[in-house]
Amino acid sequence: MTDLKQNLSTFSARFNQDIQTYFPRPDGAEKRVVEAMAYSVMNGGKRLRPYLLCQCAALFGIEYQTALPAAVSLEMLHSYSLIHDDLPAMDNDDLRRGKPTCHKKFDEATAILAGDGLLTYAFRVLSSALVIRPEIRLTLVQLLSEAAGAFSGMVAGQTLDLYAQPTGSSAGDENIIARLEEMKTGRLLRYACEAGAVLGQAPQEQRQALITYSRKIGQTFQISDDILDQEGDQNLVGKTLHKDNAQNKFTIVSRFGIEKARKLAVQLTDEAVSSLDIFGSKAEPLQELARFIINRHF
Ligand code: IPE
Ligand code: IPE
Ligand code: MG
Ligand code: MG
Ligand code: MG
Repeated sequence: MTDLKQNLSTFSARFNQDIQTYFPRPDGAEKRVVEAMAYSVMNGGKRLRPYLLCQCAALFGIEYQTALPAAVSLEMLHSYSLIHDDLPAMDNDDLRRGKPTCHKKFDEATAILAGDGLLTYAFRVLSSALVIRPEIRLTLVQLLSEAAGAFSGMVAGQTLDLYAQPTGSSAGDENIIARLEEMKTGRLLRYACEAGAVLGQAPQEQRQALITYSRKIGQTFQISDDILDQEGDQNLVGKTLHKDNAQNKFTIVSRFGIEKARKLAVQLTDEAVSSLDIFGSKAEPLQELARFIINRHF
């Protein structure tokens, strides 16, 4: 195993135990929705966003236990976005993380409510995290709501994903796709990095370097997701493949082909790696993560 794979798997094992503790088992009428929330959070997942958040925070000496509530709330919010993304009204997917999607395992109404429950719970967990100083917590709440929301956030990106139309020019299409990738996928990854910097009260220049890094890996992450949809191994990816073309999704791969997508991803990865040079060898795990994203098989 490479160092990164080893680090990520050690991190995930610890993080999975910790995030599990946020899901008590109520007996009342809410039992079903809480079960669906826990099912969707605990059913695997690479835990890339929490890992990123904790690694960025670690650059500034912030310990795992302090970063944990921010990482947990981000993973909850990400899991909500996946539950809703899979719904019949959106991508209509049956498989997520190698298991039935939330609406298949439970039912559609429960999946909608489980998404709502995770989105709101994320903000409760973050806003009541006593290990984080109140003014830092407030900044994180603001940043997370912007990253997730309808004004240039993830929800805006998902809207473009569903409704963007070809512009009639290559440059126009490339622009729209870049914006779509940046919002639907990039904003949560950017939040992960920025949250690390905010927790660490990083100087502006270092915070900016992490933002630049996150924008490059965010775009690369979605490009590699789109490449995997076309030529991945379903057993490793854990999702039904070959859906983007079938659903006329507007991606670099579907619009410009896999070669161009790969070339762009290579360039973005090089830029992501060099954007962290100011941190010296401390940033190596993050640079390795950038290289993992472009080469990933899951
Ligand atoms: C999937 O994200 C959704 C995209 C933004 C492409 P991940 O590939 O990080 O999904 P999990 O959390 O590992 O399942
Ligand atoms: C989803 O993008 C991004 C989200 C905000 C959830 P995709 O629709 O390509 O993600 P997958 O392929 O279903 O994981
Ligand atoms: Mg989608
Ligand atoms: Mg999808
Ligand atoms: Mg996809």
